[in-house]
Amino acid sequence: MHARESDSKPVEENEAVTYAEIEGVQLKLSRPYTFPGQWIGQQEILMQLLACWITVDDLDLPLTPRLVGSPGVGKTQLAIAAAQAQGRPLYIYQCTADTRPEDLLVTPVLSQGGEISYHASPLVSAMISGGVCLLDEGNRMNEKSWASLAPLFDGRRLVESIVAGITIPADREFRAAVTMNQDESTFEIPDYILSRLQPTLEVGFPNKQDEMSILQYHLPFAEPEMLAMTVEFLQQSHQLKLDFSPRDGINLLRFAIKRMIQDPSHPISRDQAWQEALEKCLGEEAVDLEQLAQRRRRTLGGDAVPLGLADLFFDPQDPLHPDADGDDEEDDE
Ligand SMILES: Nc1ncnc2c1ncn2[C@@H]1O[C@H](COP(=O)(O)OP(=O)(O)OP(=O)(O)O)[C@@H](O)[C@H]1O
Ligand SMILES: [Mg+2]
Repeated sequence: MHARESDSKPVEENEAVTYAEIEGVQLKLSRPYTFPGQWIGQQEILMQLLACWITVDDLDLPLTPRLVGSPGVGKTQLAIAAAQAQGRPLYIYQCTADTRPEDLLVTPVLSQGGEISYHASPLVSAMISGGVCLLDEGNRMNEKSWASLAPLFDGRRLVESIVAGITIPADREFRAAVTMNQDESTFEIPDYILSRLQPTLEVGFPNKQDEMSILQYHLPFAEPEMLAMTVEFLQQSHQLKLDFSPRDGINLLRFAIKRMIQDPSHPISRDQAWQEALEKCLGEEAVDLEQLAQRRRRTLGGDAVPLGLADLFFDPQDPLHPDADGDDEEDDE
C-alpha cells in the first residue's frame, strides 16, 4: 500500500491532494475533516469511546462502537472530539437513504480528458491513511450498503470495490465509530451488522453546569442572562424527558441575539426576543413544558406512564379526572 503526497500543489488550493495506489489502481483520497471539535463534560463516555480504539496486543482488534442518543445531544461532536484527542486524521461519511454500496467505497469520476479517475470515499480514505472514520447517521443507510461493510468490521478488515476491481485492506491504525439516530427516517440494520458494531454507547443530556459550558463555548458573545434562561429551559426539559437538546438551545439563542441587535432604534427586550426565539425555533408547544410533557406521556400511552385506576373511568382531558391539574412532578431522574 503506497500513499504519496502529490508533489505539485494546485495553485488555488493550499492543501495537497493525496493519492494512494492499491493493486495498480490509483485512488484520489478525500481530505480529512479539520475543524476543531471540543467535547465538554461527560468524560466517562469519551473514555469509553477511546477505549474501543485501543489495541492491547498484536492480535487484538479495535472495536467499532455505536453512538446513540436523542437528536442534537452531541453524538457527532463526541466522535469528532475523540478522533482529535488521539491526533488521528478524521474522515466523516454522512450516510443517507441514497447511499449506494459503491458510494461508501470508490467512485469512478470522468475527467474532462475522458479518462476515468477513482475517488476514495472518506471511509476508504480513513482505511488507507490509518485515520478514524465516523459513519454519521449510519441507520439512514439501507441494508444493501451496510452489507458491503461486513468484512471491514470483522477480523478481515477489508472492503472489495467492484467498480475499481480491487480489494482494499485497512491500515492497522484505522478506527471507526457509527452514530445512529432515533427517528422515523431510519432503516433497521440487520443483526449480523449490529453484532459487528459494538458496544452501544448512549450519549445523554448534559448536566446544568456542562450545558452552560457548552452554550458558552459555542456562543461566547451571548449575554449571561440569556445563557442562564436557556440552560434553565433545557434542564427543565431534560427533567421532563422531553428531547430539546443543546443544539436547540444554540439555535434559539442565535436567533434571539440576532433579533435583539437587528434594529437599534426599536430594540426588542431580552425577554421578548428570547420568548419569540423559543416559539419560532422549538414551536409554540415549547412555551409550556409541563403541558407538553403531559401530552407526550398521553400519546405514548401505557409505555410512558402506567395507567391508574382512574384512567379506566375518566378521559385524560376530563376535569373530573383525579389527576387533572395535578402537579405531578417527574422526579424519577
Ligand atoms: N458535550 C458537548 N461539547 C461541546 N459541544 C456539544 C456537546 N454536546 C452537544 N454539543 C453541540 O451541540 C450541537 C449538536 O451536537 P451534534 O450535532 O453532535 O448532535 P447529534 O447527537 O449528532 O445530533 P443528530 O442526532 O441530529 O445527528 C453541536 O453544535 C455540538 O457542537
Ligand atoms: Mg449527528
